[in-house]
Amino acid sequence: MEAVESELLKKAAREAAKASYSPYSHYPVGAAVLAEDGQIFSACNVESSTYGLSICAERNALTAAIAKGLRKFRALAVWSKNGATPCGACRQVIWELCGEIPIYIIDADGKEKCYISSVLLPDPFDEKKLRK
Ligand code: THU
Repeated sequence: MEAVESELLKKAAREAAKASYSPYSHYPVGAAVLAEDGQIFSACNVESSTYGLSICAERNALTAAIAKGLRKFRALAVWSKNGATPCGACRQVIWELCGEIPIYIIDADGKEKCYISSVLLPDPFDEKKLRK
């Protein structure tokens, strides 16, 4: 992936966090996913007073892209003030929808880490493999 693309992706994740609806945790998160064709889809976390119904930024970004017909993704970026890594539920969904991609984790100081999907979720449940 070109450096300019990853920079745009990280910027989109940071911008997306500004729309965060997080009145319960007060923990804004933004995520952005880069589709195969170069389009970027971004989203924030959206919380519910029934806390368990809250949806993470990562899954919101991915479902926004899927809803527009995109099916192949090249990278994901996640922004939070202290560089939180994706939760377990998001790791599973990232694996299923994206496969092995780089996942950039960025914090408010601009520090970044990058993991590939299988490092965040080793030996995942994979329905496609079970069908073989
Ligand atoms: N959250 C995300 O959006 N993504 C993550 O990777 C970790 C957690 C959200 C869920 C909730 O709205 C808030 O952060 C605090 O857990």
